[in-house]
Amino acid sequence: MENDLQKTIPDITNVPDIQTYFVNQAFEFQELMMRYSCAIREVRTKLEVLNDELNIHHKRNPIEFITSRIKRPISIVEKLKRYGVPISVESVEQNLNDVAGVRVICPFIDDIYAVADMLLRQDDITLLKKKDYIQNPKENGYRSLHLIVEIPVFFSNQKRPMRVEVQIRTIAMDFWASVDHQLKYKQDVENPEQISRELKECADIIAQTDARMLAIKEKIYSGSPHTETPAEKLKKLSVPLG
Ligand code: GTP
Ligand code: MG
Repeated sequence: MENDLQKTIPDITNVPDIQTYFVNQAFEFQELMMRYSCAIREVRTKLEVLNDELNIHHKRNPIEFITSRIKRPISIVEKLKRYGVPISVESVEQNLNDVAGVRVICPFIDDIYAVADMLLRQDDITLLKKKDYIQNPKENGYRSLHLIVEIPVFFSNQKRPMRVEVQIRTIAMDFWASVDHQLKYKQDVENPEQISRELKECADIIAQTDARMLAIKEKIYSGSPHTETPAEKLKKLSVPLG
């Protein structure tokens, strides 16, 4: 372990002014985190715009809610160590895809792919990696669509492409993932194998339920659309907030 650490932490014992070095690294780190935070806002805004537009046109929201997070410094360092790459500010941007994370929760499975397509069609978004854990669920039953995207963020004197991990899943998949997450981080669980088996069973039931809910939604929306009178339309008119 110690040797691993020595491999990945740059040797700064010969740096002439360690305090200046530390302060510079700290500022660079703070600036990098600020850039990730801005990238998250850009992606969130794009998703909120899509949701608002589709709400006006189709009277339903393909996105239930959005959450986001910046990876904590401790998790950043742990991941850099795990990858065996240098522990430096530069290395974070070079080697990690998930410092900025956005999670999109949709009501139905088809909303997941619709949202992903709409986001990826935008000409300032570049798709770097896609993992479809819905088509190919993980062995434990985890389902979600993962996209690593790059988005340009405009600052006072530069434009920086920033990487963001976007996880898109249904409400039911999210419920499952949050319970699974609790199992991973709880140390003193009795009989974790039994719980994993039960979780896997629940994942399968959830997948079936998601499929049935989609079929119900399709039935609800499949009828020929009722042509609204101007009075009916007027009743529904509202001014979007914010
Ligand atoms: P990480 O090192 O965990 O980031 O994995 P990775 O770089 O191979 O990426 P992957 O797309 O497999 O997973 C990235 C993220 O998806 C994780 O950080 C979790 O947020 C989520 N995730 C992946 N697998 C699971 C799982 O089995 N359970 C839960 N709850 N979340 C998962
Ligand atoms: Mg991760």
